Amino acid sequence: MLPTIAWQEDDIVMVDQRKLPAAEIYVTCKSVNDVAKAIKTMVIRGAPAIGVCAAMGLALGAARSKATGTKQFTTEFQRNCELLAATRPTAVNLFWAIERMKQAFSAGALAGESVAQLTARLRAAADRIHDDDVASCRAIGAYGAALVPEVANILTHCNAGALATAGYGTALGVIRGAVEAGRKVKVLADETRPFLQGARLTAWELVKDGIDTTVITDNMAGAMMRTGQVDLVVVGADRIAANGDTANKIGTYSVAVLAKEHGIPFYVAAPWSTIDLSTKDGDGIPIEERNAREVTHVGNTQLAPEGAHVRNPSFDVTPNKYVTAIITERGVFRPPFVESLAASEPAMAQSAVDN
Ligand code: MRU
Repeated sequence: MLPTIAWQEDDIVMVDQRKLPAAEIYVTCKSVNDVAKAIKTMVIRGAPAIGVCAAMGLALGAARSKATGTKQFTTEFQRNCELLAATRPTAVNLFWAIERMKQAFSAGALAGESVAQLTARLRAAADRIHDDDVASCRAIGAYGAALVPEVANILTHCNAGALATAGYGTALGVIRGAVEAGRKVKVLADETRPFLQGARLTAWELVKDGIDTTVITDNMAGAMMRTGQVDLVVVGADRIAANGDTANKIGTYSVAVLAKEHGIPFYVAAPWSTIDLSTKDGDGIPIEERNAREVTHVGNTQLAPEGAHVRNPSFDVTPNKYVTAIITERGVFRPPFVESLAASEPAMAQSAVDN
């Protein structure tokens, strides 16, 4: 099996996540327009994977450019950045990755590099973003494993797995890390209406890994908690504000409130690229509203009648008071997050200097 996203010669290949698990089909992107479409239509999804994909898309756009001079090449690069930035609004990793690519471009332009040199530089930057993401997930898995008891029933929502990252996963990274550390883990996967990332993708990944997985409908989580069948919750994130308020797949907030009511730890696992210190709190996080058809239909089967109004906010915000800890590649952050996350800022400033 190919990884979530990979180069194939100068094309980008990714598994079509809309089709899993019924079919394992691979989509080939040959242009930056193909990449933007793949992100928008959720061929590829999950905050870190979206960021990695956008970075690779910018490298692809550069490689395919017919520009003969740096002026035209720069204009095209800027246009490609705008195109990709307009695909999905909530996952901050998208904007983080585009920013990293812009920094790489600027460094090359400042050094007076040619179109060919800039193209090579963008490819190297995209590859680094890809590889760093896998390394971050592995570190998240190791930090998170330490929080998992010897025997644990773990509930997760949506898919924050290998498919949602460049590999290994964030929330599923914690689960994989715990299993690798010898914990006896059973997973409850919320199906995650309306796109069914839990039932389709999380279950697919975990079953492939031989991890005991039970799919439940979203409205079963409360009953599972009340009857003692959940020891901890771990989810991913699309954007974490400076105060720890966390945007993640719609339904995460309900799970977090239920967890608090039942005294169950609620962990958020995410790479540092998901942390947005420039957004003060959850009210500042844009929430994507997706097509009504995702709610009214399953495949070609219509569930809701014509004429009914439909809402489809794709994400919700979990206020920081429900979050027990945030697990990142830099370690485990505890409340008050506004202080603990900011304390890691000097390291971020340093890594910006290093790049
Ligand atoms: O709409 P999606 O499938 O892109 O939403 C994905 C999620 O909400 C994930 O939990 C989040 O992006 C973290 S993925 C490591």
